[in-house]
Amino acid sequence: MVEETASSPSDPSQPGPLSVSNISHPSPPRTHSKLTSTVVREARDYADMSMLIPHEALRRELLEMSSCVPYLKAEASHLWKMKLFFRWYRTYFYPIIHGHHANEEKIFFPQLAKKVGASELPATLSSDHETMMGILDQILTAEKDFHKASNDHDKIKVRHIVINLIQQLVPLMEEHFAEEEEKLIPLVREHMTEEEVDAVVGSILHHMGLKGLRFELPPVLAAAREWMTDEQYREFSHKSPALVMLLHNYVFAVEFKHFNRGLLDRIRHGERERGVGWHCGLLPNV
Ligand SMILES: [Fe+2]
Repeated sequence: MVEETASSPSDPSQPGPLSVSNISHPSPPRTHSKLTSTVVREARDYADMSMLIPHEALRRELLEMSSCVPYLKAEASHLWKMKLFFRWYRTYFYPIIHGHHANEEKIFFPQLAKKVGASELPATLSSDHETMMGILDQILTAEKDFHKASNDHDKIKVRHIVINLIQQLVPLMEEHFAEEEEKLIPLVREHMTEEEVDAVVGSILHHMGLKGLRFELPPVLAAAREWMTDEQYREFSHKSPALVMLLHNYVFAVEFKHFNRGLLDRIRHGERERGVGWHCGLLPNV
């Protein structure tokens, strides 16, 4: 397999670097070292865990997305990669982010508000969600515009719009996660017990259903393997229902590796077609 080169940062046809996640110097596949949080340097207790478990996964998804951008070149011969990107974005990225925000808005924030009083929760957290979802929706709409475009010139224009939207979205999400960690972790530590946090997580798992677990669990567990200690990971996975872990290990994680990450790898490696692999055609190629 030939490794594709990314566009040079000095290429005027390319968008500028992101301010927070520098997407102009990719070294795919990205490796992530321990915690990506700029607020929590070490997971000390259940309050740190309550935020780090979702956020460490979502920051890694942002890094994965960012690392693909330089390979989405403004050339007609590279437009097939936009189709893969949109497929990945619509199938995996969007539902994960949307699901996370819904979990916070419908379950976590109300439970925390009961403990500390609604006025103690920063109003910006919910308004940030609306702003971010607005940008996320614009990228979904851009996919439709891309497929409707009748020529490569118009498709390349859509590509520019999408990359600019990603450049807005990534720092916004990183700042939002940092603000949540800075302001909510101390509130959780002070006002909620570990058992109460576990109950919230249980409600979230129930609310997610199989569909939510299919998309959200693999990135959470893949990230957790990287940033948690072995002991923390063991404790975390033992708290998850056995059936859920079984489904994860034999179904969801397989899809994550071959389909979710498969789409991104194909963009970065310039692999337009993917042959039938180890799954002998039992699973569709992405
Ligand atoms: Fe949030």
